[in-house]
Amino acid sequence: MAQFSLPQNSKITTGRTWDKPATAHGELAEFKVYRWDPDTGANPRVDTYYVDRGDCGPMVLDALIWIKNKVDPTLTFRRSCREGICGSCAMNIDGGNTLACTKGIDECGSGAVKIYPLPHMPVIKDLVPDLTRFYAQHASIQPWLKTETAQPEKEWRQSREDREKLDGLYECILCACCSTACPSYWWNGDKFLGPAVLLQAYRWLIDSRDESTGERLDELEDPFRLYRCHTIMNCANTCPKGLNPAKAIAEIKKMMVERRV
Ligand code: SF4
Ligand code: SF4
Ligand code: FES
Repeated sequence: MAQFSLPQNSKITTGRTWDKPATAHGELAEFKVYRWDPDTGANPRVDTYYVDRGDCGPMVLDALIWIKNKVDPTLTFRRSCREGICGSCAMNIDGGNTLACTKGIDECGSGAVKIYPLPHMPVIKDLVPDLTRFYAQHASIQPWLKTETAQPEKEWRQSREDREKLDGLYECILCACCSTACPSYWWNGDKFLGPAVLLQAYRWLIDSRDESTGERLDELEDPFRLYRCHTIMNCANTCPKGLNPAKAIAEIKKMMVERRV
């Protein structure tokens, strides 16, 4: 009989409850944050922190920075732009994958705000997932303009209409929220490219300036790389930039069919 419980060393334990601030300038908000340090050999745990809302910005990332600066400098997470552009602060907040810098503390449900790393990825430390495979998959679709004709003197030109075909695609910041919300990617992430990378693949497939459409489609024509998408739509529901990778995937499938007829 198959056993589905977690191995002993993966079970999440109750961690430390950190002291409330001695003096507060506003309400206290409770945060429960996943912690794991590979150097200790201990099981992952969930620590509890109390954040002084009167002394902290409005976003979940502000709270994490506040905790790191004022309570626990060992708390580890990624962030850079703090305005929804770099994609580095992607994590699971309040049960959904999103960007900590654009998720308001007030948008989280009542009770403690629960924060975990992006799901189903190896964890490097605390809230930092290992995205090595994700980036390698992105590199595999050759995300750059590939042309045969001679380089124009000035620039590769594009009509306004053709440029508009890139809307809803170019905005992707490769945060991995969608791929790590996709059940097909959870189970076949080594072979299925996942929604983020496929959205990027489509972005190059429909770029009017690109001249390797056939080659790009050949690369995707595989039972796993593309066709593991079962249109479950978690990707579109979770994308913090409001994009629709499932639609991009459907368009690639359509291109596959069209080139056969
Ligand atoms: S499609 Fe959205 S969720 Fe997916 S990587 Fe791009 S920005 Fe992130
Ligand atoms: S629509 Fe496809 S890519 Fe998006 S979550 Fe579902 S299976 Fe994954
Ligand atoms: S810090 Fe750059 S997207 Fe959040």
